[in-house]
Amino acid sequence: MNRGKMRVVRCTGYRPPDVLELVETEVPAPKENELRIAVKASAVTASDIFIRSSDIPPSISNTDAPSDRYPQAAQADTRIGLLRRCRLSRVKNRALQYMEKGNIQPNQHVLIYGASGTSGTIAVQYAKYLGARVTGVCSTKNLDFVESLGADTVIDYTTTDSVEPGVEFDFVLDSVGKIKNSPLKQSCKNAVRNSGSYVSIDNGDLILSSSRLDQISTLVVGGAFTPVVEKSYPLEQIVAAHKYVQKGHKRGGVAIRISE
Ligand SMILES: NC(=O)c1ccc[n+]([C@@H]2O[C@H](COP(=O)([O-])OP(=O)(O)OC[C@H]3O[C@@H](n4cnc5c(N)ncnc54)[C@H](OP(=O)(O)O)[C@@H]3O)[C@@H](O)[C@H]2O)c1
Repeated sequence: MNRGKMRVVRCTGYRPPDVLELVETEVPAPKENELRIAVKASAVTASDIFIRSSDIPPSISNTDAPSDRYPQAAQADTRIGLLRRCRLSRVKNRALQYMEKGNIQPNQHVLIYGASGTSGTIAVQYAKYLGARVTGVCSTKNLDFVESLGADTVIDYTTTDSVEPGVEFDFVLDSVGKIKNSPLKQSCKNAVRNSGSYVSIDNGDLILSSSRLDQISTLVVGGAFTPVVEKSYPLEQIVAAHKYVQKGHKRGGVAIRISE
C-alpha cells in the first residue's frame, strides 16, 4: 500500500552540523500498539547539539509525517503560537525542575546565571511570577532584553568579575552549564546565603512529569510567562539552525518550521 512520502532529517554520523541530511522516505505505518504523530514544528536545543556531537547512535530527528490516529492531539490549539508551543515540553520541564529545587518564596533574592538563554529566560520569568527579586547575568547585548523579561537587576558577565560586596542570594540557578565558568560565576556561588542554595542545570537528569507539564500550560496560557523564540528556520535549513545554536549565544530558543 502506498502511504505517501514524508521529509525526514537524518543524522548520518557525528560531529559537525553537516552530518544532518534532509531526505524523503515513506510514511511509516503504526502497528496496533503504536501512534503516528504529526510533527508541525520542533526545536534545536543545547541537547541536540550535545547528542549530534557525541557517540550516541544517530536517529531520525525531525519529520513531517501526518498523524492518523489522534489528529486532535497534534492540532490542539492554545493561546500560544505553534513555534513557541513546540519548545514547551522538554525545555520548560527542565527549567522548572531546577527552579523547584530553590523553593523560592516572595521577596527572596534569586540570581539566574545565563538569563538570556533557553532555560534562563524561563527561569527569570518564573522567579518573578513567584514574587522574587531577580538578578540576571548575561552579556552586554542582552542586558535590556533580560530586563524586559522582568529582572530587577542585570549583571554583564563580559565586564564584571564579582557581585557587589554585601549582596546575597537565596537561590542561584546556573542555567549555562558547568562548562562555562568565570570569576563572576564563582562570586555568585560565594554570595549564596547559608540558608540558600546553588543549583546547576547540569546537575541530574531531566525528569519528565505530566503534572509539571500541566502546570507549565496553565502558567503560559495564564500569561505568567512567555516562551521566547529568537529565530525559526524551515526544516530545509536544519544545518544552519544547528550551526547557530552551536555558537552558544541564542536568545531564548530556536524553532524549526516543519509544515508551514
Ligand atoms: N536547554 C536544554 O534543552 C538543555 C538540555 C540539556 C542540558 N542543558 C544545559 O543547559 C545549558 C544551557 O542551555 P540553553 O539551551 O539554555 O542555552 P545555551 O544555548 O547553551 O546558552 C545560551 C546562553 O548562554 C549564555 N552564555 C554563553 N556563554 C556564556 C558565558 N561564558 N557566561 C555566561 N553566559 C554565557 C548566552 O548569553 P549571551 O548571548 O548573552 O552570551 C546565552 O543566553 C547547556 O549548556 C547545558 O549545559 C540544556
